[in-house]
Amino acid sequence: MRFVLVASVAATASALPCGAPTILGFFTPKCDANGLLLAPFAGGVQEAVDRSVAYYAAAPYDLPLSHNFQPFVWATFMSGFDYLPTSLDIIAGMQDGMGLLSYVKLYKRAKAGRGGNATAALSAAVQLGDYLTIWALTPAHGVWANVSRSTGLNIEWPLKTASQGDAAFGINCIEVDRVAMTAFALLRLYEAVPTPRYLAHAVHSARVLAATQVDGNATDAPWPFRVDAVSGAFLNGHKNGEMAFALRLFRALAAPPYSMPEFAQPAARLWAWVRDVQLPTARPDVTPAECLFVNFFEDRTTTLDNNRNSWTAMELARLLVEEKAALDPDWQAHVESIFAYVLALFGHASNVGNATIVGEQDDDNKPWGGANSKLAGVASLYGCASGKAAFSTLGRLNAFHMAHFTDPTDGGRSANAYDVDVAPTRGGWTQDAWLDVLHNLVDHLEAEDGVC
Ligand SMILES: *[C@@H]1O[C@H](CO)[C@@H](O)[C@H](O)[C@H]1NC(C)=O
Ligand SMILES: *[C@@H]1O[C@H](CO)[C@@H](O)[C@H](O)[C@H]1NC(C)=O
Ligand SMILES: *[C@@H]1O[C@H](CO)[C@@H](O)[C@H](O)[C@H]1NC(C)=O
Ligand SMILES: *[C@@H]1O[C@H](CO)[C@@H](O)[C@H](O)[C@H]1NC(C)=O
Repeated sequence: MRFVLVASVAATASALPCGAPTILGFFTPKCDANGLLLAPFAGGVQEAVDRSVAYYAAAPYDLPLSHNFQPFVWATFMSGFDYLPTSLDIIAGMQDGMGLLSYVKLYKRAKAGRGGNATAALSAAVQLGDYLTIWALTPAHGVWANVSRSTGLNIEWPLKTASQGDAAFGINCIEVDRVAMTAFALLRLYEAVPTPRYLAHAVHSARVLAATQVDGNATDAPWPFRVDAVSGAFLNGHKNGEMAFALRLFRALAAPPYSMPEFAQPAARLWAWVRDVQLPTARPDVTPAECLFVNFFEDRTTTLDNNRNSWTAMELARLLVEEKAALDPDWQAHVESIFAYVLALFGHASNVGNATIVGEQDDDNKPWGGANSKLAGVASLYGCASGKAAFSTLGRLNAFHMAHFTDPTDGGRSANAYDVDVAPTRGGWTQDAWLDVLHNLVDHLEAEDGVC
């Protein structure tokens, strides 16, 4: 159990002041004798996870109109002090999809006895899955009927009106990749809790995706970024950078235990575009116009097809590490090309304990928690899977950095993983504070335990 070793080193190694910045997240950071950041809790990253899981588990079920769902399920902006929503937005596709993957991963780790609270993880996962399948669907007719909405107004049950950047394109604007992301997350939930509705949603979403897929080329991805759910019309963004979840979904349904041959050809067709057209743009000198890791963020309506990001590339790298040669004989070279692209364009020195942190996109290159923590998850997994210790170190220092954004008083989190030398704001975007962070910290912990 390598994690135990790391934790005991962290607890017993001489913990020294790190140097110049004296505030990192909620802590005065401590470093080892080589100047490398240490975890802020004696129990390491697992303790940060456990404390924040407990914080979110303590959120109320009985806020007005909340239909017995805790607010992290339906509110994108939550006050860091009383769990109350601070706006009407919910980015249901990404927040609940990534949150669901997060809690299902934690549930599996806890059930395997490696760490974490299985009861709390399952409760959150089921709420996220139920919200997605009951309250956050597109209209029941049309090209993209009965799939996940990307955004909405959280006072509407069910959601009926797009919000954030989607609002500029009409009430039924959806982001296509969220359809795949939530479907794949629901498939994973179904494997933990066999409620037929979860599987039905995943299979239906995959069929809609397969029916709308095109080959793709250097200017158009296999699906656009935004479409109208009812008419199917193109709305915005010819390039859609987030192909990892559609690929995961098709491959998972084509393979046992589902063994649905209808998804084998869509998977092969999508992989051909990713391998031959998208992956070659993962390089440090890619121009904004050439890059195919663009679009993705809900709040953006402009600079879309040339706004490079780290998020979509890192999620593709994670898929390559998960599947290895079963998907791609060149998986290691491809993963390293993604790291080269991401670190050159979005990597920053944290200036504390030699950690590397990762910004989000060209027009907002800040290390928000969701984008930043992907380095903890993906570099740790790749270090584990390849045996290349430099990647494990990169992932571990980033995970230790992220653990500083769990408040030791009650486990509350900050979305602003860039706050150095300033007391962090609690709360903020819920996916950056927690729901898109947890799965990365779990992947990191699993990798430290040699599970990769
Ligand atoms: C696990 O989570 C449940 C639900 O939030 C809570 O009741 C329980 O006390 C937690 N267990 C531990 C050991 O923290
Ligand atoms: C969407 O779901 C509703 C309710 O289950 C159903 O009546 C309708 O036929 C579905 N639409 C499509 C296109 O599958
Ligand atoms: C790229 O694909 C789009 C959408 O399928 C198509 O309209 C366009 O003509 C293609 N471009 C080239 C150069 O083939
Ligand atoms: C600090 O990080 C850089 C770049 O990741 C690396 O080259 C260097 O060896 C690290 N320093 C220590 C003391 O590990």
